Amino acid sequence: MSKKYLLTTALAYTNGPLHLGHARSTYIPADIMKKYLKLKGKDVIHIGGTDNHGVPITLTAEKEGVKPEDIVNKYHNEIKRDLDNLNVEFDSYGKTHSDIHIQNAQEFYKKLKENGYIYEKEIEQFYCPDCDKFLADRYVEGSCPFCEGEARGDHCEVCGRHLEPIELVNPYCIICNTTPQLKKTTHYFFKLSALSDNLDNYVKNSNMPDHIKNMAYSWIRELHDWDISRGIKWGVPIPDDENQVMYVWLEAPIGYISFTKQLGDVWKDYWLKNNTENHNTKIWHFIGKDITVHHAVFWPGMLLGNGEYNLPDSVFSGGYLTLEGKKMSTSKKWVVWVDDFIKYFDSDYLRYFLMANAPLNRDCDFSFDEFQKRINTELIAIIGNFTHRALVFSHRKFGAIPIVDKKDLKEEDLALLNKCSETIEKYNKNMMDCNLKDALVDIIHLAKEGNNYFQKMEPWTVKEENRLKEIMFVCGVITKHIAYLLYPFMPNKTNELLDLMNEKMDLDVRGNELKKPKVVFSKIERDTIEMVKEKLLKSENSKNTNKKKNKKNNKNKNKNKNKNGEKMELIGIDDFAKIELKVAQILEAEEVPKSKKLLKLIVDIGDEKRQVVAGIKGHYTPEELIGKKIVLVCNLKPAKLCGVESQGMVLAAGDEVVALLSPEKDLPVGSNIC
Ligand code: MSP
Ligand code: ZN
Repeated sequence: MSKKYLLTTALAYTNGPLHLGHARSTYIPADIMKKYLKLKGKDVIHIGGTDNHGVPITLTAEKEGVKPEDIVNKYHNEIKRDLDNLNVEFDSYGKTHSDIHIQNAQEFYKKLKENGYIYEKEIEQFYCPDCDKFLADRYVEGSCPFCEGEARGDHCEVCGRHLEPIELVNPYCIICNTTPQLKKTTHYFFKLSALSDNLDNYVKNSNMPDHIKNMAYSWIRELHDWDISRGIKWGVPIPDDENQVMYVWLEAPIGYISFTKQLGDVWKDYWLKNNTENHNTKIWHFIGKDITVHHAVFWPGMLLGNGEYNLPDSVFSGGYLTLEGKKMSTSKKWVVWVDDFIKYFDSDYLRYFLMANAPLNRDCDFSFDEFQKRINTELIAIIGNFTHRALVFSHRKFGAIPIVDKKDLKEEDLALLNKCSETIEKYNKNMMDCNLKDALVDIIHLAKEGNNYFQKMEPWTVKEENRLKEIMFVCGVITKHIAYLLYPFMPNKTNELLDLMNEKMDLDVRGNELKKPKVVFSKIERDTIEMVKEKLLKSENSKNTNKKKNKKNNKNKNKNKNKNGEKMELIGIDDFAKIELKVAQILEAEEVPKSKKLLKLIVDIGDEKRQVVAGIKGHYTPEELIGKKIVLVCNLKPAKLCGVESQGMVLAAGDEVVALLSPEKDLPVGSNIC
């Protein structure tokens, strides 16, 4: 059965342009997948657009004293501009504040109603007497009933809990500061709870990654019916009720269908169950992890309730991006906008870095130093170096990649060509599983092999012309493979490379005349990085980000105190989740020569072994450590202590008496701690 792929990306809220976080979790991965499938000759489309309703947008409009439409149009255009600049391509791109979507969302709603999934219920909601309106979602703020932190509407900023707005302590209207009153009103509800068995079944049979399935199951177990209307003006009107609009999370995902409809009748071949009996549609949603439940539970629930459409086959949720180790915040201006970034660096470098830095489903950090380092030491020193040397050498000697008879190739040549086929196989598997980082690692390995080969063959010493041709042919084949495999990640750069080779985007080498080689992958200079940091890292408390200097001021903001009586900085659960702790077992231990405190350990963390250095000498002998199960921080940047590399940190407590922390029951090595 032939397959059709429909990829969607989360519809960005039109209350700001695109930042690096949006690009990382959602848009770049989807575009890489799209380009990859397309290159493989698959039937694939990418559908996206912007989300124009919802409270963040009306709030921005109110703050700026303009109409919501103005805000929507402004940012719709800016977001599209940013996506274009990142080379993210769409087959259809729409906006939810459009006739086609409003009509489509209303039809969808009517069908839900017809099928008996919608009912009315009286609820109590905060109402502001001054503004004369119900305070939907984030129109009301107050203190969190659990941690007393600042909470916005349905979400506590400090402890991260989801709240019902009416749970807020000391609530106030964010427009006029008035204390709101509780008032009865009638809302529409979606009978999500009636669908829990169907949903459970659906998730089981879908191809979602396991961690998403597990998250979905835990939601499905506790499903409540869903309040899907709001008593505000801005949104898609509920059919037959002029006082309410649909909750933005009900109508926005329907946009995926509306925007496919913009393509004309072909939309049916992707979405309509009846039309897709003869082929298999794979609907893949690309999103950031914060909206996983909406895509893995609520939206499939809506589709099940409606009954006419295909359900998503998978959901890929990208981890969150932090900036220089700190949570991004647009209100505190701690953010790097795509539009600023691309003034200084090729968007391909961003695409590369954001995918190479961590597996997609993990959180990851953007730091300019790390960016420079990864680009220079991987992309430039390995891929750039090999392809450049290969092209320069062939150009100088032959003016083209020489074509030779494969029969004559030596064993070492064939071994490398074999590596190419192996690489492709691994790469294809990784791409189809959306393991984009691993796919990049496959390419890097191939380029490393290429460099080793070049170094070993020393073509500059080879006198015999035929042998030299063979060597440069092999190098040409590798270069071509690298360009082809790297294309989905770096479309600009790989096209430049192919242009120099006069070649098409495939795996063949034709021996065409080479253009005069130029450096395709150019290094990022220290000065550039420093200059860009100076320009782009300007949060409101930007001096605080220069760590120590202003730490004191910063601390005063928080209420809790540590044991020295100093105020202690509070972190959110997201911050804690960044630390990857695992149960590890000590396999070997020895003293680090010339160090008073350090022991060198080899530990097993399940899927790999690590060397770590721990300051516990004198408290434990190396012998007594062997076999102990301990706790290791696994995602700490490697560091050298007394010249010995440490790939992680062992947890220990105490000053005079020092004790290693270990799990209180015997747990398997590699168990996650959270
Ligand atoms: N409008 C909703 C999506 C509706 S889909 C029917 C929305 N918009 S958003 O503008 O806030 O986010 C757009 C995408 O970027 C989402 O996939 C979101 O998860 C992702 N991210 C937003 N901030 C992010 C980071 N700091 N890091 C990584 N991804 C981030 O959500
Ligand atoms: Zn008010």
